[in-house]
Amino acid sequence: MRAIVVTGYGDVDKLEVRNVPEPSAAPGEVKVRVTASSVNPIDWKLRSGVYRQKSPLEFPAILGRDASGEVVAVGTGVRSIRVGDKVLGLVNRAYAEYVVDKEEAWGEVPASMDPVDAGALPLVTLTGTQLIEEAVRPRSGEVVLVTGAVGSVGRSAVFAARTLGARVLAGVRRSQQQEAAKLNVGVVALDDDSAIARLPQLDSIADTVGGETIQKLLGKVKTGGVIGSVLGEPPRAKERGLVVRAHMVHPNGRRLAELARAVAQGELVIPIAKKFPLAEIREAQTLAESGPGGKVVLLVR
Ligand SMILES: NC(=O)c1ccc[n+]([C@@H]2O[C@H](COP(=O)([O-])OP(=O)(O)OC[C@H]3O[C@@H](n4cnc5c(N)ncnc54)[C@H](OP(=O)(O)O)[C@@H]3O)[C@@H](O)[C@H]2O)c1
Repeated sequence: MRAIVVTGYGDVDKLEVRNVPEPSAAPGEVKVRVTASSVNPIDWKLRSGVYRQKSPLEFPAILGRDASGEVVAVGTGVRSIRVGDKVLGLVNRAYAEYVVDKEEAWGEVPASMDPVDAGALPLVTLTGTQLIEEAVRPRSGEVVLVTGAVGSVGRSAVFAARTLGARVLAGVRRSQQQEAAKLNVGVVALDDDSAIARLPQLDSIADTVGGETIQKLLGKVKTGGVIGSVLGEPPRAKERGLVVRAHMVHPNGRRLAELARAVAQGELVIPIAKKFPLAEIREAQTLAESGPGGKVVLLVR
């Protein structure tokens, strides 16, 4: 099968189309002919080598966490998924024509959704909702600031926090305020110190940005409040008496199917910036890294 491999740490020129052996479904696993995948920040963090201590790659490596497509085989013991089903999943090695992963990773693509668009959803929607539901865990009426709120993980976090009845503030760049207004929550410019000074006391922050931005915000959270982050524990947060929960996304096919339905119904919007054929992976990752304001989708077949 055709796949994109990373041949070594470095720039996008380390990405190549190659023929590699097709995977097969072991017991409890599902094999999918991939329709679409998408580019996520983790892809270029792994490729460039900035994560080489944390998650070293063995070359040639196949990247890609998102897949949508059609089931072509199921391993023994698989009960909930059948050959021919249209599915999406948070998986590994998705920059390829075929992907295999465990049954629990896959959820159903809604009938009204273009399977190509489904390829944009798994990693970002699961991460944003798990950040809220498993790390921040706000109660109804609590004030939650989501940083990077017009990013794909941030939008999903805003959606989940609103669903739980939290009072959500969308933290964005000044240049993104107009876009953020469409989320129908309060908006705060995180690159405007006077706007940060005017913030009410926060019960919690769901952080998708990290760095200096989260440091500037720590003092706005009440003692005993929660910092949930998808970028590891922010330094000096615990010392301030805050509860800190760093979250790593995990697959959940059933929840993913619900989130895909929320997208199909327009309750959660994950914009797509551009779609590229898989073979144009270098152009696709270059655009994704530039911050195009939406997902970059890879058309596999
Ligand atoms: N822990 C996990 O399991 C996990 C899983 C998935 C993702 N992540 C991480 O989550 C982060 C977000 O991913 P994503 O897919 O949502 O990326 P994204 O779509 O690019 O969203 C990031 C958003 O944050 C904004 N932003 C960046 N720096 C900012 C700052 N200083 N102030 C205000 N806004 C800022 C970006 O704006 P610009 O585009 O203008 O920069 C963008 O709107 C990434 O670092 C990713 O690696 C972690």
